[in-house]
Amino acid sequence: MNEDVYELPEGTEYRYLVQDEGEEQIQYVRRHYVNPLLVLSRKCIILITCIVVALLTLAGYLAYVAKSSPPEETEVETECGWLRGRLKDGAYSFKGIPYAEPPVGKRRWRPPEDLVEAGACWKDMYDATRFRSVCAQVQPMRKNGKVMGQEDCLHLSVWTPSLHPVEPLPVMVWIHGGYLHMLSGQESGYCPTEELAHHTQMVYVSLNYRLNAFGFMALEVLREGSHTNTSGNYGFMDQIQALKWVQRNIHHFGGDARKVTIFGQSSGGTSVWTLMMSPLAKGLFHCAIDMSGSYVYNASLESAETDNLEFLTRTGCKDAICLRRLSISQVLQQYPSWAGDDLLDLPVKGTFAGPVAIVDGYVLQAPPFEIWENHGTYNDVPFLVGTTEQEADFHPPYENISTWTWGDYQWFVKKKLSTFGENMTNQALKLYDSSAPCPTSDRCPERLYTTMISDIRVTCPNHDLAKRAAASKLLQLVPLPQPLLLPSSRQPGLLQRSRNYSWDPLTS
Ligand SMILES: *[C@@H]1O[C@H](CO)[C@@H](O)[C@H](O)[C@H]1NC(C)=O
Ligand SMILES: *[C@@H]1O[C@H](CO)[C@@H](O)[C@H](O)[C@H]1NC(C)=O
Ligand SMILES: *[C@@H]1O[C@H](CO)[C@@H](O)[C@H](O)[C@H]1NC(C)=O
Ligand SMILES: *[C@@H]1O[C@H](CO)[C@@H](O)[C@H](O)[C@H]1NC(C)=O
Ligand SMILES: *[C@@H]1O[C@H](CO)[C@@H](O)[C@H](O)[C@H]1NC(C)=O
Repeated sequence: MNEDVYELPEGTEYRYLVQDEGEEQIQYVRRHYVNPLLVLSRKCIILITCIVVALLTLAGYLAYVAKSSPPEETEVETECGWLRGRLKDGAYSFKGIPYAEPPVGKRRWRPPEDLVEAGACWKDMYDATRFRSVCAQVQPMRKNGKVMGQEDCLHLSVWTPSLHPVEPLPVMVWIHGGYLHMLSGQESGYCPTEELAHHTQMVYVSLNYRLNAFGFMALEVLREGSHTNTSGNYGFMDQIQALKWVQRNIHHFGGDARKVTIFGQSSGGTSVWTLMMSPLAKGLFHCAIDMSGSYVYNASLESAETDNLEFLTRTGCKDAICLRRLSISQVLQQYPSWAGDDLLDLPVKGTFAGPVAIVDGYVLQAPPFEIWENHGTYNDVPFLVGTTEQEADFHPPYENISTWTWGDYQWFVKKKLSTFGENMTNQALKLYDSSAPCPTSDRCPERLYTTMISDIRVTCPNHDLAKRAAASKLLQLVPLPQPLLLPSSRQPGLLQRSRNYSWDPLTS
C-alpha cells in the first residue's frame, strides 16, 4: 500500500488520512506531512521543468537555426557575370557554372559555343550554390538502363580555399571517368570537395562534358556543313572549352592560370591523353595526371562514321535536321552501346569495342600513343601515369559473384579467355590461382577474378606503356612514393619526363 500512495491521484490522499490506522497511519501521516511540500515542490518542479523545457527548446531552436542557416555566402565576378557561391568547411564552392552555350537544338552535335562570343552572358546574380543537371546518359550502361540527365549540362564547379590568396594557388582540373558514357563532374565521392581544397590549399575545378551519343557521335551527315569538316569528339571539345574558361576566369577564384594540372581517372585518364595530344588544347594546362586511362584508340573518322550508320538506320533519319529533332531518349536508345557493358569483365576475343573516342583529324591528328612515340606536336608537360587499385571492383560483373566457388571462378575464366586459345587460359589460371594472396577471409574467388580483370584491362596496359615509354626515353621510370591522390596503386610505376618524382611540378 505504501507503494501505492505515490501512485494515487492527489484527490484521494485525504481519504487515506482518515481511514488508515496504527503504524500504517504514522507512516502515512509522516508522508502526509511531507506531501504538502511534495505537492508544493511538484508545482515548483512542474514550473521549473516548464522553464527548463522552454529554455532547452529555445537553445535547441537557436542551435538548429545556427546549423541550418545558409553557410556564409559570397559573390565573385567572372567574365560572364556575377556568381553567388558559399563558404563551408574552410573553402568556397561555386557550383554549376555554365561554360558554353547549352548544346541543344541546332547546337546538338556541334563544337561548344563560347558564352561571351555568343553574347549569352547573364545580367543578374547567378546562383552557383547548387549543381545543375548531369549530361544525358543511360545508367546502368545496359539496354534496360535508365535514361537520365539533360543535354543542357555544360557546367563546371570550382572549389577554392581562398578568393584572395597572397600568392595565386595551383589549379587542379578534374575530368571524371565513366567510359565517356556516363557519370559527371559532380558525383558525390567522385568529385572534389571543400575539404580537399582546404586540406591541399589548391583550387579545384570539375566539369561536365557531353557523353556517349551526344558527346561522340561520328556521322557523315553531321560532318557535312560543319566548319571543322569533322564529326564526333564533341565531349573532348567541351573539355577544351572548359580549360579555356579556366584560363580566363580562374584568377577570380584565387587560382593561378599558369599552374593548371589536369587529372582524370578511367575515361577521364583517356581524356587527359587526348588533351595532351590535341593541338586545340595547347597551352591550356601545365601538368597532367592519368589514372587508369587508355592511350590506345585509333578508330578513324571514316570508319566511325561507317559504324555509326547503324544508328542512323535505327532512327530512320536521313539528315542532320531530322537527327537534331530526336528526343534524348530516342537518341540514347538507338545508339549502339559501343563501349560495351562487358568492360568490367574479362575480354572476349573479337568483341567489337567501337568508335567512341576517335582520331578525327581535328581534335586529334593521329592515335595518341603514336603521336607521343613520334615526338609529334603535343602538350609537352610533366606527366604522371598510374592506376587505381582494383579498378574493376566498383561494379560486379555478375550478380552472384560474391558466392562463387573456385570451380565457378575457373569456369568463368575459361569461358572468357578460351576465345584467345587454351594457352592463354592455362597461363591465366596458373598466374591467378587459389593460392594467390587474398586480403579477406571470404569472397576470394571474386577478388581474384576482379583482380584479373583490373590487370588485363588497366594495370598491365599501363605498365606496358610505362616500359615502352621508358625504353624510348620519353619518360623516366622512377619508383612511386606514397600516392597522394590515388586511393592506392598496385602498379608502383611512376613516370615523369626527365625529372624525378615529386609534387613540385604540380605546385611550382
Ligand atoms: C572533308 O573531309 C572529307 C573526309 O575526310 C574529305 O574527303 C573532304 O575533302 C573534306 N572536305 C573539305 C571541304 O575539306
Ligand atoms: C588500331 O590498332 C590495332 C591494334 O594495334 C590495329 O590492329 C588496327 O589495325 C589499328 N587500326 C587502325 C585504323 O589503325
Ligand atoms: C551466376 O550467374 C551466372 C550468370 O550471370 C550463371 O551462369 C551462373 O550459373 C550463376 N552461378 C551460380 C552459382 O548461381
Ligand atoms: C602453348 O604453350 C606451350 C608451352 O607452354 C608452347 O610450347 C606452345 O607453343 C604454345 N602454343 C601456342 C599456340 O602458343
Ligand atoms: C633523381 O634522384 C636521384 C636520387 O634521389 C638523384 O641522384 C638524381 O640526381 C635525381 N635526378 C634528377 C634528374 O633530378
